[in-house]
Amino acid sequence: AKLESMNTDTMTVARFVLEEQKANPHATGSFTILLQSILTAIKAVSQAVRRAGFAQLHGKVGVTNVQGEEVAKLDVLANDMFVNMLKSSFEVGLMISEEDESVIEVDLKHQGRYIVCFDPLDGSSNIDCLVSIGSIFSIFKRETADPVNQNEVLKPGSTMIAAGYALYGNATMVVLTSGNGVNGFTLDPSIGEFILTNPNIQIKPKGKIFSINEGYAAFWEESVTKYIHKCKFPESGSPMNARYVGSMVADVHRTLVYGGIFLYPANKKSPKGKLRYLYEAAPMAFIIEQAGGKATTGKKRILDVVPENIHDRVPVVLGSTQDVDEYLSFCV
Ligand code: AHG
Ligand code: MN
Ligand code: MN
Ligand code: MN
Repeated sequence: AKLESMNTDTMTVARFVLEEQKANPHATGSFTILLQSILTAIKAVSQAVRRAGFAQLHGKVGVTNVQGEEVAKLDVLANDMFVNMLKSSFEVGLMISEEDESVIEVDLKHQGRYIVCFDPLDGSSNIDCLVSIGSIFSIFKRETADPVNQNEVLKPGSTMIAAGYALYGNATMVVLTSGNGVNGFTLDPSIGEFILTNPNIQIKPKGKIFSINEGYAAFWEESVTKYIHKCKFPESGSPMNARYVGSMVADVHRTLVYGGIFLYPANKKSPKGKLRYLYEAAPMAFIIEQAGGKATTGKKRILDVVPENIHDRVPVVLGSTQDVDEYLSFCV
């Protein structure tokens, strides 16, 4: 008899990644182990986020990080989780974290062939008011057996082999790509497994939502002012809808699932924008492109940018291709 209550053949992320590994004759299983270590950190962060209110994990630690931001307790906790899980995977040689000023070199005993850049907790300003937050990561493969060196990641984002994010929203979801499309996995906390719920995510060619922090309107470049005006007062058709969460992961995930455009452009106060290349802009650009969308700085494809420093920022405009192309038509 078929018991309807429980799926006895759930496609977990572990099965999904293992099948991809077995389909690749060159795969050694290292990537599978690396990804599992990241997913363990994400599950632990997800639990910490949901317990923060009664585990005294809200609020700040009273220090300022290399970004010039006040560090939240959950920033530190999430960072420690990612660093420890990655180090103990024996698959990582070098890590770049938003929360660490310099690169984290893994000790020789634990060194592996991958480089991971991560934003352990994205949207920290939204923690204490319980608005969705996330984690973002990009994975590069080392090309030399030389001693690890930070210059190994100062390459175009297009050299990335995988990228993903976790959204700690009304469900915890992981969205992943390793260059063969984008897949979404929802956490079932009762068994601690990520279940494939959104296979082969494709972004709409055009959406109805624009997402930007209008608080900076006084500092926008002309192209942004003109484009946003067009979103609100189109020559024909109805105006677009406005949505802005202020957590990149939430704004990008909504753009991926519903379509539309997300913009964090340069402004007079931050001439290179705010979002960091290696662990925010580049991984999100890879995911959006793999889902059939577009991601530009306004001057060039985000994945073609070569960062000079590990915390470099770039302007970000990404989402449905027709919407991004419309924005680019104002960037003459
Ligand atoms: P983080 O919390 O990791 O420092 O990132 C915050 C980023 C990103 O999540 C979001 O898109 C952006 O900051 C929002 O910035 P504004 O508050 O300036 O709009
Ligand atoms: Mn931050
Ligand atoms: Mn962030
Ligand atoms: Mn962060």
